[in-house]
Amino acid sequence: MSGTPFRRLFPPTLCMRKIDPETVRQILDTANIVDVVSDYVSLKRRGANYIGLCPFHNERTPSFSVSPARGICKCFSCGKGGAPVNFLMELEQMTFQEALRYLAKKYNIEIKEHEVTEEERARENERESMWAVNDFALSHFCDNLTNNPDGKAIGLAYFRERGISDAMIERFKLGYALDRSTALYEAARAKGFEEKYLISTGLCARSDRGGVYDRFRGRVMYPVHSISGKVVAFGGRTLRTDKQMAKYVNSPESAIYHKSNQLYGLYQAKRAIVERGKCILVEGYMDVISMHQAGIQNVVASSGTSLTEEQIRLIHRFTENVTVIYDSDAAGIKASLRGIDMLLAEGLNIKVLLLPEGDDPDSYAQHHSNSEVEAYISENETDFIRFKTRTLLSEKDSDDPIRRADLINDILRSVSLIPDLVKRQVYIAECSRAFGIDEKSLSLQLSRIVAGKIEADDKAAQRKVAAESLRKSAEDAPRDSVQSAATDASEAFLQPYERNVLRYLVRYALCEFCDTDDGNGGVEPMTVLQYVRAEMARDGLEFSSSVHKNVLQAIKETVATWPTARTGILQRLVQERDEAIQSGMASLREADNLTVAAISAREAAIRSEADSRYAAAADSAALDYVCRTLCSSPDDEIRHLCTDLSVDRYHLSKVHTKHTRLETERESLVRLVPRAIFEWKAALLELMIKELRGRLNALTASDDASTLLKEMMRLTDLRSEFARYLGERTITPRKI
Ligand code: UTP
Ligand code: MN
Repeated sequence: MSGTPFRRLFPPTLCMRKIDPETVRQILDTANIVDVVSDYVSLKRRGANYIGLCPFHNERTPSFSVSPARGICKCFSCGKGGAPVNFLMELEQMTFQEALRYLAKKYNIEIKEHEVTEEERARENERESMWAVNDFALSHFCDNLTNNPDGKAIGLAYFRERGISDAMIERFKLGYALDRSTALYEAARAKGFEEKYLISTGLCARSDRGGVYDRFRGRVMYPVHSISGKVVAFGGRTLRTDKQMAKYVNSPESAIYHKSNQLYGLYQAKRAIVERGKCILVEGYMDVISMHQAGIQNVVASSGTSLTEEQIRLIHRFTENVTVIYDSDAAGIKASLRGIDMLLAEGLNIKVLLLPEGDDPDSYAQHHSNSEVEAYISENETDFIRFKTRTLLSEKDSDDPIRRADLINDILRSVSLIPDLVKRQVYIAECSRAFGIDEKSLSLQLSRIVAGKIEADDKAAQRKVAAESLRKSAEDAPRDSVQSAATDASEAFLQPYERNVLRYLVRYALCEFCDTDDGNGGVEPMTVLQYVRAEMARDGLEFSSSVHKNVLQAIKETVATWPTARTGILQRLVQERDEAIQSGMASLREADNLTVAAISAREAAIRSEADSRYAAAADSAALDYVCRTLCSSPDDEIRHLCTDLSVDRYHLSKVHTKHTRLETERESLVRLVPRAIFEWKAALLELMIKELRGRLNALTASDDASTLLKEMMRLTDLRSEFARYLGERTITPRKI
């Protein structure tokens, strides 16, 4: 699953202009999830859906399900999937725009590009120009290395001495910057490149006296490629042993280079990372290059600084498994132990590898064969927690009881960062063995640490809320009474209720599920969206989470475009029906030996089947429309949440028999939707009661409690009413 045919179809520069929204619509309408997934997974029909082996993880029994009706796919084991765009984005590591282009190509849809504004064009031009200048500099430095007498005598000789092959010089586009102050500047100007781009890329700089000079002089050059292969920066290494001089000079941050978002070597390594299912992390340029030369290509470098979250996420796009290689000096190890906690929190599986005393990845790879390096890695890489345990236990004072308790807490803190519960449990078992402490006590301590963290997070959230409310009252903004209860903690409490309401909206917004009076004595069908909006408006409700708010907004916007979209969709369905009838008739004509009566009976059957298929498709078109649109939203948060909400978690295990038909969710909406709203309101009520109780407790003797008490009674009465409606037992506290 590692090949990306797409990358070959579209070189990066083609993927830059935005696709016109009308075309986007057309692509999303046309893309068929079964089609798209079938290019990667062999699917078998199961009921209304298809299933197959998940392409995102290794498995023997299929848990990857594709729903043609909803236009989405989902793995019930690892949770990945989504609408066609999302599937491609995750599997092929494409951007949203790239996935659209892939689909357009697949379905022969002509792409109209969005009219870019002057400002967008200017910004894009600026970046284009910077890439172009960097490209020129790259070929200039490479050319120096092979054709310039100084470049050959100094730069090339240096790489030869360090054992770097021509193949690696070519793969990493290594070069040499001449030891003259304007060699690049003059060459670039002679080719017509503008001075301002030489400066904005950092290739040149302006001196105090106003002259412009080259940043890199007398250095071997390591270009930094972006993930798609553009040259965004350079690192230049001095060849002098002069300690006064910085060993490396690097390009400054610019519109095309953010150091914290790049990993050296990722462009050259990404394919191997996916193929090997693992990324090896080293420190320097030379480490990456020598490892490649030894045939180990899944290697990237953090370039000497500690890892950033962006870099970690970058790795995570390609694999979950990271092996960090260290030189074996003790200070370095201790310092980096801390940095690794960040990798754990991101849910990556971390292994650590120590090299023999005195070696770094570069020297080790230079002095050993490919199979020796591979063997060394597989024999010595150690699970991070195990490594940390061992390192800490080997410290000389680790027998001291207090010191030992600190060590255990230190390790448990790392364990507490791992998002996966099962993995945490496994580590607890291991620590228990390593320290000779029973698992129960360790689990207890772990949950204390987790709780402590939650408390700390809560405190931070409370501080934030307090600061926010101070700011608000300073602005003298009136605050809604329901909303004032909704602090960050209550947001978490409300989350599942809001999510439940949203779930019905995402799946059934346009479904007419009940009748309401039209004000003239007649009845009028009401959609789920209309109902929910009316209920929310009645009590002045809003979702507390901003993602939920955004999804609701997206639903409203999508529904607003439905009337226009509907015409096109119905036209298409009519056309499909007519085609089905025609092809049915054509095959009827080819059949021999049929009586006239038989022919007209078949004809009627063909027509009625096509009609009922049309009716069913037209009926679900409205529901599918909202679902499909949201599951293909360019906004990551909206797309992911809506995909989650639109998947049937249970349909794999549902029992289908010939005799019983389960009542479908859609048929039960008239019960389910009001219930979801009710449960949400009940939860809000619960919060309000809690807040009121707090205020009552804080009253002083001189305050008049009667209004608060009245309010309290009103709320608790309401609560009992709600509880009756929801069919729960009310439990009243015993009076003592
Ligand atoms: P190293 O000092 O280990 O360099 O720094 P190296 O790449 O192994 O180089 P050689 O083997 O001496 O030729 C590791 C990384 O830290 C960054 C570079 O990215 C380097 O590859 N670094 C180091 C700088 O950016 N500036 C410096 O002055 C030193
Ligand atoms: Mn080195």
